[in-house]
Amino acid sequence: PALVEMPDGQKSWMISRYDDVVQALGHPGLSSAIIPGGMLNHTDPPEHTQLRKPIARAFSTRRMEALRPRIEQIANELLDTWEGTEEVDVIETFAHPLPITVICELLGVPKEDRDEIRTLSTELLVPATMAEAFGRFAAYVERLLTTKEPGDDVITELRDEPNLVMNLVLLITAGHETTVHLLGNGLLALLRDPDVKRSLAGDPLLIPEAVEEFLRLDGPLALGVSRVATSDVVIGGVTIPRTSQVAVSLGAANRDPSRYPGADALQLGRDPHVAFGHGIHYCVGARLARIEGEIAFGTLLGRFPELALAAEPEWRESFIRGLGSFRVRPK
Ligand code: HEM
Repeated sequence: PALVEMPDGQKSWMISRYDDVVQALGHPGLSSAIIPGGMLNHTDPPEHTQLRKPIARAFSTRRMEALRPRIEQIANELLDTWEGTEEVDVIETFAHPLPITVICELLGVPKEDRDEIRTLSTELLVPATMAEAFGRFAAYVERLLTTKEPGDDVITELRDEPNLVMNLVLLITAGHETTVHLLGNGLLALLRDPDVKRSLAGDPLLIPEAVEEFLRLDGPLALGVSRVATSDVVIGGVTIPRTSQVAVSLGAANRDPSRYPGADALQLGRDPHVAFGHGIHYCVGARLARIEGEIAFGTLLGRFPELALAAEPEWRESFIRGLGSFRVRPK
């Protein structure tokens, strides 16, 4: 751990080694309660334990696995629009619409609201518009809760839970913004590596392993997660004083050369990563994101094995690591 100055001028302890990150994410003296309002990822036990139970139940492995045929159908319908085209933007036509359709159907958000959600989510990720966008997002969810018919969906299931508005904003945004960039960043790594691409196209059973490696190499939450020390905390032999801000860098941990030799290279079969976090806040949507990744890459390679980069894309400015646009040639 090292004390560093963050872009906003504030001092924060930065944790970057794999072992230190795992230790920090499991440490009860590092609190997640940075933002008030009872959003699951910003609560500590015992409140966190109570809030997480029904949400985790709503995203159970069994329910997520049962979504596979529907996710395959969505992926295929999106890729139908690629047939016969010279060049497409992956983010616009596939990586974004796939997860937003899945999370909206699962939660019970009407189809016609998707554009509004996209605008709200985008504004929420830009520091300058974040506070205002949050208010508008919460107002949207409140309106949705008063107008929505009950159905076989997660919103209906969670309707009596505390802090529902806050947690629906979390589920809608966390439920797609991150997965968009698992698909985009993963595809970029793959198209830059013809050998791995060829082996995946030849052996689809390798795809789950490849999804893990995409998450390690360029996980959407590479920048990491924040904590605040509620007592003096020792991480990696260094004492972090009470009230310190702590930045836990998941991307740095995932490229720690002592755990991942040649860490900047795409290489299947590596040790597990921390792209979904670790400990009590471990991502509730990890199963869903993995399934979406497996289906997206399987369908893409199955239908467009000759897929190639049209131009080198650029990383956008955002705390979620990802591409603003990404042009490919389906062939
Ligand atoms: C928590 C990453 C997809 C919902 C987290 C955390 C990480 C993460 C690192 C831990 C945060 C912390 O420790 O402070 C990712 C990545 C995804 C992804 C990389 C996609 C590739 C999803 C999806 C959902 C989701 C699809 C939809 C249900 C959540 C929720 C939490 C969370 C609700 C808070 C859990 C808690 O605090 O107990 N995610 N996530 N995520 N994620 Fe994800």
